Amino acid sequence: MNRIILLGPPGAGKGTQAKLLSQELGIPHLSTGEMLRAAAAQGTELGRRAEAFMSQGKLVPDELVLGILRARLESSDTRRGFILDGYPRNVAQAESLVEITPIDHVLYFEIPEGVLVERLSQRRNCPTCGTVYNLVTQPPKVPGRCDRDGTPLVQRSDDTEEAVRTRLRVYREVTLPLLDQYRRQGRLRTVSASGSVDEVAARVRAALA
Ligand code: AP5
Repeated sequence: MNRIILLGPPGAGKGTQAKLLSQELGIPHLSTGEMLRAAAAQGTELGRRAEAFMSQGKLVPDELVLGILRARLESSDTRRGFILDGYPRNVAQAESLVEITPIDHVLYFEIPEGVLVERLSQRRNCPTCGTVYNLVTQPPKVPGRCDRDGTPLVQRSDDTEEAVRTRLRVYREVTLPLLDQYRRQGRLRTVSASGSVDEVAARVRAALA
């Protein structure tokens, strides 16, 4: 089965590859970041609490994220597999996940830090349909507008220089140790996330074969 975890630093291209893979394999893309941003946009209690952490680049408390993920994993569309993007992010989350579902593949997107900062500073999102652009590598056809619905593109509130610095620090301190855990279990496959979207997609497919 294809129950897949994508691990990697902010801006490595996990979301971009997860969307492609989701279409190709016909399984849902479960991004905890997108779930939390949707809750924040709806103004729910959980969303308001999460937004305070997210805008600073800090991790949202484990119990809030686990609750939202557990509910999503109970949907019937995850029965044939799923792509988990952004979870787990620390050792405690990995332990909680073991109790909810088995995992078949763990892919780690490896990329130099300088490339991440460049990608994140140029990222723009469509607030209506969620399409992600990059002003340099994947620009919209009409500047500033979504190709699909014409909505003005926005920059994520955690793509500011300060929040990106915090996200990278949090990643190094609490998410990187997870890699060792999966490596020790012999489950981690490393994919180079440098190069074009198509090049990375080909490596992802090879790693899952
Ligand atoms: P989340 O939404 O998960 O953000 P992230 O992990 O920081 O990852 P990003 O979405 O920034 O990057 P990505 O790797 O998906 O890159 P993308 O494909 O967009 O989390 C956000 C926040 O939510 C967290 O900080 C935390 O507060 C909270 N949160 C989420 N999950 C949590 C959890 N489990 N526990 C606690 N808190 C949690 O690509 C980036 C850019 O590069 C785009 O512009 C794209 O077009 C471009 N690009 C992609 N691939 C390429 C390529 N190959 N070549 C050139 N450009 C490329």
